[in-house]
Amino acid sequence: MTGIHIEAKKPNHFITTADFTAEQLLDLVYNSLQFKVQAKYTPSEEIKRPLAGKTLAVLFSKRSTRTRIATESSMAFLGGHAMFLGSQDIQLGVNESLLDTARVVSSMVHGIMARVKGHDEIETLAKESSVPVINALSDKYHPTQILADLMTIHEYYHNKNNNVPEGIYSAHTQHPRETLPGKKVAWVGDGNNILQEILVAFPKCGISVAAACPPGYTCDQDVIDIALADAKKTGASVTFTTQPEEAIKDSDIIITDTWVSMGQEEEKKKRLIDFKGYQVTKDLIARGGAKPDWIFMHCLPRKPEEVDDEVFYDKERSVVFQEAENRKYTITAVIDALLNKGSI
Ligand code: CP
Ligand code: NVA
Repeated sequence: MTGIHIEAKKPNHFITTADFTAEQLLDLVYNSLQFKVQAKYTPSEEIKRPLAGKTLAVLFSKRSTRTRIATESSMAFLGGHAMFLGSQDIQLGVNESLLDTARVVSSMVHGIMARVKGHDEIETLAKESSVPVINALSDKYHPTQILADLMTIHEYYHNKNNNVPEGIYSAHTQHPRETLPGKKVAWVGDGNNILQEILVAFPKCGISVAAACPPGYTCDQDVIDIALADAKKTGASVTFTTQPEEAIKDSDIIITDTWVSMGQEEEKKKRLIDFKGYQVTKDLIARGGAKPDWIFMHCLPRKPEEVDDEVFYDKERSVVFQEAENRKYTITAVIDALLNKGSI
């Protein structure tokens, strides 16, 4: 029979870092470092644009600054097109189901980046889509954020360990598998999507996590089980407490996030009461006994209740704006892996 042979291949997705090995994640971070050098320090005419003619649907049902800008600018960098589809723009949720939307959208584009409410929504999208789906945040996980966190921690320790002077960028010359194992992260805050993604990514990379969450604000049991199993294999430790000082003890990196995630606005009053004592301040960090050279991270957007200005804007300690910028190069690496190379 003459005609075109059509190959029905199952697409690869990026739904959570729990689905990948440490080597795969750290290689993605390594590729992100190379993309940073290309995007910032390489003449435009020397850069390859492998996604010419390709479209990524950016299907967001919640607000976004960083993830949206990182995604749209990454597609432009790779030579493709990002098509932003907010909840006011398409039929989804009003006139059309997620299942039908997934089948229709994926029939016309090469990939989907989706920010959803329930994690079941991103799973449905991935199941029904004929093209790769990237999770741009669900209530359970935020995988692209945590790649940027790994990249930022790598950059910090690369510079510190090698006495890299200001004005020089050389983090791309070292693989993050050499800088990350052995570090200890303290989480002080909600048991939310950011902590859950940290728990399924960091211990397998050899990074210990001590999490302090108020009673009733802990993580899903399946996430805790993954973290404990990973930690057992790498020798990292994973501990949970309701005392912020206990989590901070001997930590290298202190991380928090909003106490009121998108979709939880009605619980705000109760949460502000329940999280009393959890604001990250220099006093809390000193009482907890972090390592002398501790650094601070936050995925942003930030509210002053979870971290005060003194810590958040500290030029030596806070790497939050570098972390935000790194969202771009890590998202470039994920899109390149799935839409150009074909897999992570
Ligand atoms: N950190 C993060 O995902 O930020 P946005 O919600 O602005 O995308
Ligand atoms: N936990 C936050 C993260 C935002 C990037 C939220 O889900 O709103």
